Amino acid sequence: MVDAADVAVVTGAAGGVGRMIAQALADRGRDLLLIDRLPGALDEARRRLEDGYDVHVGTRVCDLGSAEAVRTLGAELARDARVGALVNNAGAWTAGDQYPDAAPDAWWSAMTVNLLAPMLLTQSLWPTLASVGGAVVNVGSSGGTGDDAYASPEYGAAKAGLRRFTTSLGARSDVRVTAVVPGWIGLDRAVREWHALSPRARADAGGLVPPARVVDAVVRLIERGQPGEVVELEGDWVPEPRP
Ligand SMILES: NC(=O)c1ccc[n+]([C@@H]2O[C@H](COP(=O)([O-])OP(=O)(O)OC[C@H]3O[C@@H](n4cnc5c(N)ncnc54)[C@H](O)[C@@H]3O)[C@@H](O)[C@H]2O)c1
Repeated sequence: MVDAADVAVVTGAAGGVGRMIAQALADRGRDLLLIDRLPGALDEARRRLEDGYDVHVGTRVCDLGSAEAVRTLGAELARDARVGALVNNAGAWTAGDQYPDAAPDAWWSAMTVNLLAPMLLTQSLWPTLASVGGAVVNVGSSGGTGDDAYASPEYGAAKAGLRRFTTSLGARSDVRVTAVVPGWIGLDRAVREWHALSPRARADAGGLVPPARVVDAVVRLIERGQPGEVVELEGDWVPEPRP
């Protein structure tokens, strides 16, 4: 059974890994608040979860790349006394050109969705989470680790910042702030892209991270993660050749 406080907030929950994380949490009996910028996909995710599990699922449409929208959402969440976990999963590259070719508004929005929104939502929910020994899981990326050149400087910088944000809070045990840092995740579209690579590009890319491994890590971090804990997940799964 789940405590009354055990609503989990999942951002970017209408698709990709976020939707799978929401499903795993519903499977464990947690009520959910799903946040995404896509109203149709969000509604469909809610319906499927409510059909499949005995949980309550709320939704909130929000563009987490908009500082104003994030502040409004943060103020709303601060009033919700039932939240026990926050998964800052939403993340995105700048659409089109990357820094320094992207316009400032475009890469600023990427910094917001990948770093500033997780910080603001974490802060907004801090008193609520602290009152129930709650947890935050930030979904980072291997693109934010190391010193190699990277195709999206703003994404790399934001994800590096998200990781350091997590570890910097390692001394705070009132809310357990943790992170999972995956390499290329083997979602269906990634498998298609991987198959389209040349053999040499595949060798350079290495393998993929099975999505279930990301989901399992997030669930474990919510339940038993230590403050400041970072789980790195390297891609070692090579999809079967297509028949
Ligand atoms: N896919 C990968 O290979 C990979 C690798 C490493 C890290 N990550 C990270 O994992 C997380 C999930 O990745 P994914 O591939 O499932 O993501 P995705 O691109 O499939 O998007 C997941 C959801 O986030 C939502 N979203 C995107 N931008 C948003 C915004 N501005 N406001 C609100 N919602 C928004 C999308 O609408 C979508 O429903 C992200 O933080 C991503 O950076 C992904």
